[in-house]
Amino acid sequence: MPHPRPTLPGSSFLFGGDYNPEQWDEQTWVEDVRLMQQAGVNAATVGVFSWSRLEPSPGTFTFDWLDRVVELLHEGGIGVVLATPTASPPPWFSLAHPDALPVTEDGTRLTHGSRDTYCPSAPAYREASTRIATAMAERYGDHPALLAWHLHNEYGTFCYCDHVAGAFRSWLQRRYGDLDALNAAWYSAFWSQGYGRWEEVLPPRRTQYLHNPTQSIDFRRFMSDELLQAFREQRDVVRAAGSTKPITSNFMLPTWNHLEQWSWGEELDVVSMDHYLDSTGPDGEAHAAYAGDLSRSWAGGRPWLLMEQAAGIIPLHGSRMAAKAPGRMLRNSLSYLARGSQGALFFQWRAPAAGSEVWHSALVPHAGEHSRLYRETVELGAALGRVAEAAVPPAEGPLVPADVAVLWHADGWWALEDGALPSQALDYSDSVRSVHRALWQLGFAVDFVRPGADLTAYRLVLVPSMFGMDDAAVAALTRFVAGGGDLAVWYFSGVADEHLHVVAEGYPGRLRDLLGIRVDEFLPLAAEEEVRLSDGTTGRVWSEAVETTTATSLLDYAEGPLAGRPAITRRDAGDGAGRVSYVSTRLDADDLRALLATLTADAGASPVLAAAPPPGVEVVRRRGADASYLFVLNHGDLPVTVTGDGVDLLTDGTAREGLPLAAGDAAVLREQAAGSPWSVR
Ligand code: GAL
Repeated sequence: MPHPRPTLPGSSFLFGGDYNPEQWDEQTWVEDVRLMQQAGVNAATVGVFSWSRLEPSPGTFTFDWLDRVVELLHEGGIGVVLATPTASPPPWFSLAHPDALPVTEDGTRLTHGSRDTYCPSAPAYREASTRIATAMAERYGDHPALLAWHLHNEYGTFCYCDHVAGAFRSWLQRRYGDLDALNAAWYSAFWSQGYGRWEEVLPPRRTQYLHNPTQSIDFRRFMSDELLQAFREQRDVVRAAGSTKPITSNFMLPTWNHLEQWSWGEELDVVSMDHYLDSTGPDGEAHAAYAGDLSRSWAGGRPWLLMEQAAGIIPLHGSRMAAKAPGRMLRNSLSYLARGSQGALFFQWRAPAAGSEVWHSALVPHAGEHSRLYRETVELGAALGRVAEAAVPPAEGPLVPADVAVLWHADGWWALEDGALPSQALDYSDSVRSVHRALWQLGFAVDFVRPGADLTAYRLVLVPSMFGMDDAAVAALTRFVAGGGDLAVWYFSGVADEHLHVVAEGYPGRLRDLLGIRVDEFLPLAAEEEVRLSDGTTGRVWSEAVETTTATSLLDYAEGPLAGRPAITRRDAGDGAGRVSYVSTRLDADDLRALLATLTADAGASPVLAAAPPPGVEVVRRRGADASYLFVLNHGDLPVTVTGDGVDLLTDGTAREGLPLAAGDAAVLREQAAGSPWSVR
């Protein structure tokens, strides 16, 4: 049973973000508090990158400046999210412990001068981290301003050094017991990789040609566990020092993925997420929805916290997100709240005067108080104050009710990173996001689920490209289908077991019987190649020679070597109550949306509104303690009218006779009568 966890205050939403007072003089601190108060900021995250100011030499702590900052914030009525600064060890640390600097795959030892320059397995790093976490917990653990602990920042640093090799071996010994089992799991007979002694086993360092895929995925699994262990050590010293505040560490919505978020979610009091939009257009809104749904799901359906988002420009890796259009900051923030976030926090409060992220947007930009961004910050603070009642979570039942679930696991991601797949265009994130995006466009609330989880709460479960599956994952899907649930599976799922060994006698060996099909050959498509299906639908990336056994074909391939063979299949299951579908190619967005419209309708899954809102309008229902709240976000270019039995908390307007919502506007409607019909036109 999960232990009862400390939670964030449920009476209002947190608003604010990363605050770096160490970059400013004390006069600016006073000004910051004034501006925060004026904007309704109630949470400042301090300490994230303060190590060299907090511990300027080994074991010497200088907390006096942080004491003054925390006091100032407290006097100003602003809560503190206190971060341990362990993502950025100071220069003295790397000179004292050169063995604790990270080593890349090809053996290059990095040096300080940026951030994240540490080896997560180095004993000196782990020791220094728990030492400073202990000192901070002892000093601030019961400070009345403290809202939560933010341990580290975005765990995800990799290293391939000898410390890591040792920790990897211990992890493998726990997983496999002996070398025979390791050799079997790693299929080490291939290319003469048989291991005779544990010392021969290494991280997947740079080698001559392709890596062993099972070694690679085990290394990813190990690294996630190793980072989690580093987190646990900090968490345990904070708890041992007596602090009872909730503890989190911020995830980043994976664009690369270093964590297995389900097991992390079990250990965090509060899941928190950093999310940066990947598009200036509507796909950015779908991306925000994806981040929100993943975060809530990783949090076990409970409230989570948006720890970072950008107010505007994100100048990273040469690509530049244009400034957010007016109103987008509010709509984005509401999208996260609608999906269960307990706040809208930002990176960052004040734009730095220099440094690597000098051009990164902030709530207080270089222009200062007299700026469009700060004015929108004030408006956002006021809006979050007006919707505060929606922050109180329901005593029972789901926070965001959803009939549809999508299977998600980091293993699926890691398996498709392998360099020797039958198509380099296979992309886990793309598969999952395309399905989520289509459901978002169709107006469905979506949960993500862990392989092996109980699925009885859902009407429809979707499995996009989950290459390897263990027994528990297959058993859970089988039980769900036997109980009358609807299941849809996409190509390259269930082909292998958890060690990435292909299951023989026809793909996808793990799911053949469940799907009622057998595939004897994959036919990946070349980059520009497409294949037409029997109703004109277009397939790309992938195709398969599918034979039906107990399923029937819904759509056939209409051309090419597979002409006349099934492309999308279906079989009735669960004594006729459910259906199992298989999609053997990558459909274009419109075709995928049309397919999902059919699958959701057949499964009896309910969208948030019975009648779909116009394109570009997003509607999400979040349940509260005494009422439920309908968030309506008009991302489109046209005005709409919302009609239903509810009152908009943002404007106090009633929607009974129709509430006009201009392009770019949003409403948060307290539903007066549960289940009353709504329309958005
Ligand atoms: C986050 C990170 C922040 C800042 C931000 C820039 O991932 O936690 O410290 O670097 O990215 O977008």
